[in-house]
Amino acid sequence: MADKQALHQTYLPKSELFESAHVKTMEQYNEMYKHSIENPEGFWKDIAEKFYFKTPVQGKFLEYNFDVSKGPISISWMQGASTNICYNALDRHVQDGNGEKVAFFWEGNDPADEGKITYSALLKQVCQLANVLKNNGIKKGDRVAIYMPMIVELSIALLACARIGAIHSIVFAGFSAESLAERMQDGEVSALITTDGFWRGTKLVDLKSISDKAIDLCSEKGLQIRTCLVVRHLSPSDEIVETNGNGDQCDGVAKRPCHKLKVKWVEGRDQWWHQVVPAASEECNCEWMDTEDSLFMLYTSGSTGKPKGVLHTVGGYMLYAATTFKYTFDYHNGDIYWCTADVGWITGHTYVCYGPLLNGCTSVIFEGTPFYPDAGRLWQIVDKYQVTKFYTAPTAIRALMKYGDELVKKYDRSSLKVLGTVGEPINPEAWVWYYNVVGDARCSIVDTFWQTETGGHTITSLPGCTPMKPGSASFPFFGIKPSIVDENCKPVEADQEGYLVFSQPWPGIMRTVYGDHQRFETTYFKKFPGYYCTGDGAKMDKDGYIWVTGRIDDMVNVSGHLLSTAEIESALIEHSSVVEAAVVSQPHSIKGESTYCFVTLCQGIEFTEDLVTELKAAVRTKIGAFAQPDMLQNAPGLPKTRSGKIMRRVLRKIARGDRDLGDVSTMADESVVDTLFSLRPSTV
Ligand code: WT7
Repeated sequence: MADKQALHQTYLPKSELFESAHVKTMEQYNEMYKHSIENPEGFWKDIAEKFYFKTPVQGKFLEYNFDVSKGPISISWMQGASTNICYNALDRHVQDGNGEKVAFFWEGNDPADEGKITYSALLKQVCQLANVLKNNGIKKGDRVAIYMPMIVELSIALLACARIGAIHSIVFAGFSAESLAERMQDGEVSALITTDGFWRGTKLVDLKSISDKAIDLCSEKGLQIRTCLVVRHLSPSDEIVETNGNGDQCDGVAKRPCHKLKVKWVEGRDQWWHQVVPAASEECNCEWMDTEDSLFMLYTSGSTGKPKGVLHTVGGYMLYAATTFKYTFDYHNGDIYWCTADVGWITGHTYVCYGPLLNGCTSVIFEGTPFYPDAGRLWQIVDKYQVTKFYTAPTAIRALMKYGDELVKKYDRSSLKVLGTVGEPINPEAWVWYYNVVGDARCSIVDTFWQTETGGHTITSLPGCTPMKPGSASFPFFGIKPSIVDENCKPVEADQEGYLVFSQPWPGIMRTVYGDHQRFETTYFKKFPGYYCTGDGAKMDKDGYIWVTGRIDDMVNVSGHLLSTAEIESALIEHSSVVEAAVVSQPHSIKGESTYCFVTLCQGIEFTEDLVTELKAAVRTKIGAFAQPDMLQNAPGLPKTRSGKIMRRVLRKIARGDRDLGDVSTMADESVVDTLFSLRPSTV
């Protein structure tokens, strides 16, 4: 256990590690920050000069309205200029003579599976896939769903879409068929790119059959997916058949452990990647995109339960992904960078794929989990590739802490310089362990606060200059102007909690919710006219450090994944035995938060172990395994106001076993509270 003082002290960046940092002092940071806020056009114009634009800006460099009372919310950067993000991520580096540089080292789920790909090889395959997409009739503006594990082909797929101007919609491979179908329908996608299957630790995920089911669900609702491209990662082929010594057939990249995955095939719709991609032409011109054309959509939970397709555009996102990557990780040529996030989430979009590639960086892509074959896996990979910049989530750090220091110390970590964290507030104990044990008290920690909606880091320390306070994301990134306000939009005093809002646009901010601009305005701009509302609570201390305290809406952050309580409730209510459900968040020692579900059953139905198992499975099927509830409780009645609103504040207290309920004068029937306390499982 770290001592109290270690948790509350301020840590200074080690100057010997950061002599050549892009930002070396707080004076330099303050100066750059001031410039970025006072003159955003000038600040980002200088940055834009480092990128390739086919045609220059022809309108305003920045034009926006952040105030709903003045008209529709709109944001545009670099009006009229054209570019292509894939060109800037790949072609530019190959033309500069860096084609032989490794873009990605790939590390499989099994430690014996590995691979690598250079910038020029990546470009070649991206062009080939882009041609395959075009041959299938996919063109600029069409949506393409991508549902894949962490393999190099996932990055190829997203870059190929970007190259031809198709809008990618990546769905994390942990989502269920129903969730995939819902996202494909909302985005009206024309094609799906997927994989036969993959191993995650010792678990086999049969991705193609989930994809088949999702495509069928779409077709029932009238959306026909005519093209399904499938990467052969596991299943045996007719052509080259190898054996792994155990008598199992195998081929493809992931060699072990092999198995007999059978893939169902729909002729005319399904195409093997390895049959069509290598056969396609290696030449594919970029589609020159208007900077405000759509680049991708990515779904995030919404408090109404229906996921929102967060839409990002080409030009602004490109500048922001590249710039945040460069400064937050203090990127220099020669770095080996590794972000453990899945490309299915925004962290993977911006900091596995676009950000590193736009900077010409060499990074690691990891297919597996931190616990397989043992809990030393992350540090073994750091050692193997001599990783210099490492980025992961507090939930992983907390889980690994429990295995003790030996599994870390066994591996060489002397290459490390920057350790990043993202996804939720990091508790100071985990921070101090990350700092002392993983980083040997040498490295800078960057605690990066941001969201799917923000495209890139918004509040973060910078490794070469920011004095670090464990648990605080510290200061705003360039171009971000934060305020912490109360219900009436008045700034709160130091150390007081309020809503974290941003008052001017940065290039990477989302532009709309796909197909629902009104929802975009209501969710983010209505509460505080003139501000983008993050939905998070925060306070600022006397030194100006920002401490994000967590969501203030009906969202739960489980292991860094945002889930909407409404979405889980609706999955539970769909079960024929349930009449009503209310889901609240509950602190969890590893996941940060977990879900605690109160369910009211139909007359005559008993609350049994079997029913609990069924209800958990219902949520898995509806949303995905990562959303499975941790705790279910029988609730013959729910605490409600006289007007019938469920009092979640009270339910949170009950879930925590806290009898100090606060003001319950508006409650219709107080007796339900005692009943709920008496039915609370003893295991919580
Ligand atoms: C929510 C966004 C983009 C990161 C991956 C999650 C929470 C994220 C931090 C941090 C405190 C954090 C917030 C935010 N969050 N990073 N460093 N400190 N909270 O993306 O699914 O869009 O979730 O994650 O609550 O609003 P997301």
